[in-house]
Formats: sequence, C-alpha cells, structure tokens
Amino acid sequence: MPVLLTFTGIVINKHILLAVSGGIAAYKSAELVRLLRKQGAEVRVVMTRSALQFVSPLTFQALSGNPVHSELLDAGAEHVMGHISLARWADALIIAPATANTLAKCSHGLADDLLSTLYLAATCPVYVAPAMNQAMWHKTVTQENIHKLKSHGVTVIGPEPGEQACGETGFGRMSEPAKICRCLLAESGSRCLSGLKVLISAGPTREPLDPVRYLTNRSSGKMGYALANAALNAGAKVTLVSGPVALTAPDHVDLVSVETAAQMHAAVMSKAAEHDIYIGAAAVADYSPVMREQKIKKQSEQITLTLQKTRDILAEVAQLSPRPFTVGFAAETHDLEHYAQDKLGRKNLDMIAANWVGRATGGFDSEQNALQVFWQQGQKTLAMTDKNQLAEQLIRLISERMEHKNA
Ligand code: PMT
Repeated sequence: MPVLLTFTGIVINKHILLAVSGGIAAYKSAELVRLLRKQGAEVRVVMTRSALQFVSPLTFQALSGNPVHSELLDAGAEHVMGHISLARWADALIIAPATANTLAKCSHGLADDLLSTLYLAATCPVYVAPAMNQAMWHKTVTQENIHKLKSHGVTVIGPEPGEQACGETGFGRMSEPAKICRCLLAESGSRCLSGLKVLISAGPTREPLDPVRYLTNRSSGKMGYALANAALNAGAKVTLVSGPVALTAPDHVDLVSVETAAQMHAAVMSKAAEHDIYIGAAAVADYSPVMREQKIKKQSEQITLTLQKTRDILAEVAQLSPRPFTVGFAAETHDLEHYAQDKLGRKNLDMIAANWVGRATGGFDSEQNALQVFWQQGQKTLAMTDKNQLAEQLIRLISERMEHKNA
C-alpha cells in the first residue's frame, strides 16, 4: 500500500525508485533517500556495478529500509521482484547521479544492466540528475542525448555550476538532494491531467495534386509533439493524430499517422468523443486540390488548380455533444488578436492559442514559440520560450480553465 506524500497542499501516493549510477556524487543520493522518506515516500534503490564502487549498498538499504537491487538477472530477486515488477511498482523513477554513460544508454534504448532495463520498462515519469566532468557535460554528443531524453518526456534536473571533484570548475555538479527532492515533489503536484484522455493533432497535411506532387505547409509537428509530451507528463493518456513529420512520437502515446486533411478529419472524428480534451495544433490544409489521376504535364505557361475547401475538424469537434474541452490554435501573419478572437467565437471553442507565423522566430518549424491564449472571459500571454516549456505552460492553463469550467 503506497504511502502519502504531501507538498504545498498536494497529497499523492508515491513509490519512488532511485537509480544510482557510478559517480562521486553517489554519496549525495543517500541524503536524497533520507529526504524523500521524510516526505513520506517509499523508496527503493537500484545501483549500477560502478555505483557499488562509490557507496556501499548497505548505506542505501539502511536509509531506504528496503533491499538494494543491482543485478539484472538476480536469481534470488527474480521471483520476488524482477525488473519489470520493480518498474511497475514505481510512481516515479529518478536516476541520480546520472553519468554520461547512463544518459547515453537510456537515450539510445540500450538495456544491458538493471538500471537501463528499468528505464526502458518504466511507464512512470522519469527524472535524471546528471553529474559528470564539465567537458563531458558540454560535449555535443552528451547534449544531444539530453535533448533526446527531454523529447522523450524525461525531466532533467541540473547539473549545477561550481568546483568539481576532478579539480575543474564548470557545469557538471549533481544538484543538491534538497533541490532534486523539491523538483520531484513539485512535478508530482503538476500531474494536473491525471486520469484524463487528451487527443492532439500535430504537423502538416499533404494534399495530392497528382500521383507525384502535393501541397503542404511548413509545420514540423514540434509544437503538437511537445504538447503530447507535456500532457503525458501531466498524467494524461494521450492520442496523437499526426501528419507527416520527421519526429519520433513520445513513448506511451497512441500514435495515429495520417497524410491528408480528409484522413486527419476521419481519425480525429472517430476518436474525439472518447477524449476529455482536444487540442488542434495541426496545420490542416484549408483547401485541397481536386486530384488529377495522371501526372500534370508541362505544357502551357500557366495552369489553374481547382481547390476544394476541406472540412473544419476543430469546428466539428466543438459541435459534438457531449464534446471534449476544445482548444484550437490560430496561426496568423497579421491582426493576431482579431483573427484569434474571431475563431474562438465562430468555432465555439473553449480556448484558442494564437501564434505569429512567417516571422524570424516562433511559429512554424522553430524550436521556440510564444502564444497569446484567449478564452471567453480572459487571456494570457505565454512568452517566447522553448516549445517543450511552452507546451507545459499551455497544458497547465488548459487544466486550470477546464477546472474553472467544470466548477
Ligand atoms: O508544427 P510546428 O512547426 O511546431 O509549428 C507550430 C504551428 C505554427 C503549426 C502551431 O503552433 C499552430 O499554429 N497550429 C495551427 C496552424 C493552423 O492551421 O492555424 P489556422 O489558424 O489556419 O487554423 C485554426 C485552427 O483550425 C487550428 O487549430 C487548426 O488545427 C484548425 N483547422 C484548420 C483547418 C481545418 N480544415 N481543420 C482544422 O481543424
């Protein structure tokens, strides 16, 4: 029976699995166990073979009150709590310290020891607290691994700047246990969509002109995929209907890949009624060409394409009864507020997130974005930031507005 963990008024059940990899900062993780237990969490500890060189498992056993696990194939442990049941047991997995090697293994899906196998098997939120030499931290490949882990929904805590055990100074020190503990508790409190089902559309659509050509737009899918990640981290069950993009969908998302606006319409409409929230982040074509059966030949100087209006997925979702809490996007090159407010009212939405497009930063195919969010009685500006962080802010706002609507 999980125990209760409290933080600023939030009460949650919490089993925390602490995975310790081999770095000098491993000694700090002993304090982390103590702090987490003080908050009422039940803690189980997993150590890599290298971690065993730094701290005795007895220390963690005494502090956690549970046996420490270190072998993937432990004959004694397999029938009691194998790696899969250990992963299932956890409400949160925290890897602290996370060495460069451990981060690389997790980001590439290797599973050659207990820690990396647990990471693959875990369906709970995962946190990593990196600790390594500053040059190793700044190495491009480490940064790529960190970026990849973040895009898979992992929360990265630290590292911090300062003097290092190797005598160098810079980023690479593991965050202090108190900070890691605070982050874990705060993040737990932000699981604001727990138990809800969220449907998100992302990316562009491709509208065929003839068997070899199509009309499309510059959407990369980054905004929609970041929202899928943020919704997952907030505890939701997520279905992602995606146009053609070069992104990997987050683990544990139910991905439906489509190509055309008509296919996106069919996919969204078949699923919308069974979801609590719909977020239309896709850049759906407003018009689709009447497709020619044969390749258009290069003959006259000019040709005319006949375009047919597509069905408005967002407006149709908003007409369902009962309907999900319906959030649209507005991509505008001018009169942002005017057009966003118009879409909010005309399409009968609960909320609309408007962004500028066609500028140097933000909008289509950039890492960053800013949003002006409108609802019937209010609005909020979410300033230019990384799309992952922006998505987290929008998800929190959606949860707040939804709560307000249902109050
Ligand atoms: O994918 P990225 O590169 O990260 O870029 C992100 C983004 C700019 C694409 C995203 O932030 C965004 O603005 N998405 C909506 C783009 C868009 O099509 O906006 P719109 O103003 O044309 O459409 C308004 C709303 O109606 C949107 O929610 C859209 O999904 C929806 N729509 C439009 C047409 C249609 N046939 N069906 C729809 O549901």
